[in-house]
Amino acid sequence: MYTQGLDIPGGEPGAGNSAAKGKPQTTEPAELQADFDAKMAADRKIEPQDWMPEAYRKTLIRQISQHDHSEIVGMLPEGNWISRAPSLKRKAILLAKVQDEGGHGLYLSSAAETLNASRDDMIDALQTGKAKYFSIFNYSTPTWAAVGVIGWLVDGAAIMNQIPLCRCSYGPYARAMIRICKEESFHQRQGLELLLNMMQGTEAQRAMVQEAVNRWWRPVLMMFGPPDAESVHSSQAQAWGIKRISNDDLRQKFIDAAVQQAEVLGVGFPDPDLKWNAERGHHDFCAIDWDEFWNVVGGNGP
Ligand code: 3HC
Repeated sequence: MYTQGLDIPGGEPGAGNSAAKGKPQTTEPAELQADFDAKMAADRKIEPQDWMPEAYRKTLIRQISQHDHSEIVGMLPEGNWISRAPSLKRKAILLAKVQDEGGHGLYLSSAAETLNASRDDMIDALQTGKAKYFSIFNYSTPTWAAVGVIGWLVDGAAIMNQIPLCRCSYGPYARAMIRICKEESFHQRQGLELLLNMMQGTEAQRAMVQEAVNRWWRPVLMMFGPPDAESVHSSQAQAWGIKRISNDDLRQKFIDAAVQQAEVLGVGFPDPDLKWNAERGHHDFCAIDWDEFWNVVGGNGP
């Protein structure tokens, strides 16, 4: 079971910045709402000092804090490999990457704090199971090739999801995402380069890469969240300009890009239905096991 409705307490957000712009400050709820709606319609950023509806603030705290937890939890499987990296160069790259993930967590905690969420409350929500982190980090990393696949596919999927968040309506989250995406692209490239090296190695190394791809491909597709029809938060998040592209559309964009990269790498994906559909202009792929997703989210992962 997953717990819905992450409700982290916090004070009231700012009552609007109209005074700062020389306009008389409004305090009437209807005027504040109208001001917020006008900013949304004009695609302007909402800043911490601006008035915002309580539900908008809570939605942002839920998403940003869960994103924060995912960055921090994501450090664990990779951190475990630092002492076992096969060369000094690989150790230095992995150290830098793991430190970056910690930094991403800090940018995101800071963004959530601008919404009056406290770090203690956010950590408490994680530890009591009210807040989630990305289900992907419950899958095991038994080989060095898995470290490369995390970079190539997990960070690749994360970038696909995070680029549109750079245009999120909440200023501090959008700005944090711009920095995070720059670092994520290094993470994705180092994973691809690591795997390219292994693919030029021995037969055993190539088999190790393929095994890691087989292990991670389906869980990676779940990273984009449930199908649009079952995504409880999507329509409101899209109306508020938090989410710019839907879960299913991002998943499709990712699959189309990954197929081309897999060809360069010389690996296959474990999906007999994966093929180009000229009519749709996209790749078809087989049904995703959403029972597995919810099981893993509910703490029953591998
Ligand atoms: N893992 C776990 N839970 C997930 C999930 C996933 N991959 N995808 C969705 N869910 C949860 C949602 O949190 C929500 O549960 P809640 O109500 O308890 O919060 C429920 O499933 C329903 O999903 P919705 O589609 O309705 O939820 P959203 O509108 O919030 O969309 C999302 C889900 C697309 C993941 C969105 O929250 C989002 O874009 N989040 C920011 C991106 C993020 O968190 N990235 C972390 C990447 S980790 C990383 O980068 C580390 C790497 O570099 C190693």
